Amino acid sequence: MNSPIPYPELGLVNTREMFQQAMAGGYAVPAYNFNNMEQLQAIVIGCVESSSPVILQVSGSARKYANPAMLPHMVRGAVAMARDLGSSIPMALHLDHGDSFELAKACIDTGFSSVMLDGSHHAFDENVRLTRTVVEYAHDRDVTVEGELGVLAGVEDEVSSEVSHYTKPEEVEAFVGKTGVDSLAISIGTSHGAYKFKLKPGEEVPSLRFDILEEIEKRLPGFPIVLHGASSVTPEHVALINRYGGNLESAVGIPAEQLRRAAGSAVCKINIDSDGRLAMTAMIRRVFAEKPAEFDPRKYLGPARDELIKMVQHKNSKVLGSANRG
Ligand code: G3H
Ligand code: 13P
Ligand code: ZN
Repeated sequence: MNSPIPYPELGLVNTREMFQQAMAGGYAVPAYNFNNMEQLQAIVIGCVESSSPVILQVSGSARKYANPAMLPHMVRGAVAMARDLGSSIPMALHLDHGDSFELAKACIDTGFSSVMLDGSHHAFDENVRLTRTVVEYAHDRDVTVEGELGVLAGVEDEVSSEVSHYTKPEEVEAFVGKTGVDSLAISIGTSHGAYKFKLKPGEEVPSLRFDILEEIEKRLPGFPIVLHGASSVTPEHVALINRYGGNLESAVGIPAEQLRRAAGSAVCKINIDSDGRLAMTAMIRRVFAEKPAEFDPRKYLGPARDELIKMVQHKNSKVLGSANRG
């Protein structure tokens, strides 16, 4: 095996200080998923331009896609780009929905500053056991760990679920106490992907379960909470995709207003993947439809990257409140 890459070597930080500041400042740190160079560039440029801390987030399958050996060097390059642009924003690299100790360890050994162990599909005791093994390995290396209690509907990397089970507030103190996690992902009505609710005509998107969130905050005062499945499924991008040959009928997400409310609470990290995918796809489809003779990847990935930069700036300044906190 190659020698381990400790994350400070890549210019990264863990999430501890980021979350303390977010809690004190009443905002949430964005965790944007990426798979390729253009997404990574857009996320970093968007966060540099809005002066926001950022969590660069990679699922197990995204890590395979980008190539595990190449990924740390992509991120080293992204940090160098941010510094070249004159920015000192804090940047973390986080494993999203890790499903085993081996995967979490492999990530920690190759420059990740934060990992999630998603044991939410296991029974409570097994979730605690698995998460604890990761916490022990991670904390010895000053890497922060996110755990999860409660199940979100939709696809969670290699795990999928038809229905959601809200987090049971009465379990959170024991889970955090026994595992030693640094943050906790909870289920309060969000879900992964672009189809978060099945709405009948005229029906409104239901509210997130802020009552459950409040109960959890009471039981874990000052403890960082994480919201997965938090894309808004931007109607403008869905409309563009549908207009230019796509088919995303009835795609719907979490209204920005509800995310703003969550960001003002103990929710310190908000995960966004689908909205970035939609922004890029909308622009690529538009270029293909308007310029059918175009075949230079820079001519369609460039506009897609520009749109993602705009989306990141918008989220940071108008939704999460993380702009000017970097
Ligand atoms: O929550 C899952 C993320 O959106 C990552 O999805 O496994 O397709 O990379 P992925
Ligand atoms: P979305 O599908 O709502 O973007 O959620 C992303 C996520 O939770 C990644 O872990
Ligand atoms: Zn998620």
